[in-house]
Amino acid sequence: KYKACLFDLDGVLVDTAIYHFKAWRALGQNFGYQLTEEQNEQLKGISRVESLDRILNWAGVQASEEDKSKWLIEKNEHYLELISQMNPNEILPGVSDFLDQIKKEGYLIALGSASKNAEIILNKTGLMHWFDAIIDGNKVTKSKPDPEVFLKGAEALGVSPAECIVFEDAVAGVEAAKTGGMKAVGIGEVSVLNQADKVISSFEGILSKDLLNFQ
Ligand code: G6P
Ligand code: MG
Repeated sequence: KYKACLFDLDGVLVDTAIYHFKAWRALGQNFGYQLTEEQNEQLKGISRVESLDRILNWAGVQASEEDKSKWLIEKNEHYLELISQMNPNEILPGVSDFLDQIKKEGYLIALGSASKNAEIILNKTGLMHWFDAIIDGNKVTKSKPDPEVFLKGAEALGVSPAECIVFEDAVAGVEAAKTGGMKAVGIGEVSVLNQADKVISSFEGILSKDLLNFQ
């Protein structure tokens, strides 16, 4: 029944949240603002432009379009510097083994990420070869919770949404999957990802035949 697995990147396959956090936090110094970890949590799955808007809003700062574009570049340059040292050790526990299992079982595999830096990260960590299709922030116009990124992933794989299982760590991402008519597996806490069909805390020790046996 299910033919494809669609994976979010940040927080599901690799832990880049710490790098986004460092870069946003440093950027906040331009307008004297200290981003907290709780706020960073709310930026997960949210595009770069929208993240800046949220931060400026929390900081109560009204910025010109010039300042905003300058800051978006500054944040990304810092982020690129931080991820430039990424390597296969930064693949989250259990991920490679899980990808191995589903590949052998014949599932198609796609990426569905809001990040415009997804391909750099997949290459640095050696994850690229697993993917049959990659839909990232350069290919979508609407941010999660809009289902666009996952619908495009299904289309690229030539499967219907009902044949897809999405893996997500963000509330907005789980919502995107469900709105798109897909099954959603949350990676994180049940209390946070309560819209997901199933929730696991990580891929460590996970057997695909147990996880993907939806009724
Ligand atoms: C992912 C992350 C977000 C990030 C977004 C855009 O969804 O969870 O924290 O803002 O990608 O990433 P980018 O690499 O394009 O700035
Ligand atoms: Mg994520």
